[in-house]
Amino acid sequence: MNTTLREIVQAMPKAELHIHIEGSLEPELIFELAGRNRVDLPYKSVEELRRAYAFTDLQSFLDIYYAGASVLLTEQDFYDMTRAYLERAKADNVLHAEIFFDPQTHTARGVEFGTVITGMHRALRDAHAQWGISASLILCFLRHLSEEEAFETLEQALPYRDKFIGVGLDSSERGHPPEKFARVFARCKELGLHLVAHAGEEGPPAYITTALDVLHVERIDHGVRCLEDRGLTERLARQQTALTVCPLSNIKLRVFDQMHDHNLLTLLDAGIAVTINSDDPAYFGGYINDNFIATFEALPLTVDHARQLARNSISASFLAPRAKEKYLGEIDAFFANCGTAPAVAQ
Ligand code: ADE
Ligand code: ZN
Repeated sequence: MNTTLREIVQAMPKAELHIHIEGSLEPELIFELAGRNRVDLPYKSVEELRRAYAFTDLQSFLDIYYAGASVLLTEQDFYDMTRAYLERAKADNVLHAEIFFDPQTHTARGVEFGTVITGMHRALRDAHAQWGISASLILCFLRHLSEEEAFETLEQALPYRDKFIGVGLDSSERGHPPEKFARVFARCKELGLHLVAHAGEEGPPAYITTALDVLHVERIDHGVRCLEDRGLTERLARQQTALTVCPLSNIKLRVFDQMHDHNLLTLLDAGIAVTINSDDPAYFGGYINDNFIATFEALPLTVDHARQLARNSISASFLAPRAKEKYLGEIDAFFANCGTAPAVAQ
């Protein structure tokens, strides 16, 4: 990738639609919070913890990710974690972020739902006031737990309905198909919540189909295995159902061997509304711009792809139509100013 294209993907305005806030906890902050809250960690130092980040698959990552989240106890902890992410996102020229959180990881340890969401929401408000970054929260149900437990979580969440915009489904995918959560998603739809689900990351393309047909989700998180089913690929393109793809995550969790093998360009060529996101940036080697750079370095992507990816991130967001128009206008103005000089295209 030439320098100009690198500068463009870094500087262009964008949205991030797939970021787990607990996955933005940097080892330094984990140790700081462990000290503050007197939580014992099974690692002696930041370096030792970082060395443990050698994952073989999704489950090997989730085990460490849930252990890292165990240091979060107070409202201020959730505030600090969220503020640190938003500051980093602002530096990557993120205009808007839709942020996942896993309440069950915290309520299972005796932390109140209200403590979690109040801390995060206060950080969103302050970041908007100080840095102009817009952000909203999406509550994820852990799919390795039961649907009954998801319903209990929804009950705990309802007094805070104004503080989150939707629900998602994450954690261990294999053996936990979307249809396991049919009834709770139906209830969330009645409540007017936005719906998304992780599907087709490690799990089969059939999980993408049931996420669409049974859960009625509006976006698919990951979804990269859709290409194994030609009918599904054509459907996603026809319906313009966005995929929130996380390239560095896919490499670290061995969905693809190396970035050269990633199917992101094939997905774009198939006409699918692809977006680039960071998933769990503290664990997978980088934030959203690191994901853009790693992908553009490995694949023959051009400035036109950069513009398309930036536009997709806004179009696929849950922003109101007027906000989308405004942000799409900012992206178009950015690309009109940087032009399409030959040095930029590959
Ligand atoms: N929770 C955090 N990151 C995740 C991922 N990539 N897949 C499923 N659940 C997750
Ligand atoms: Zn994810």
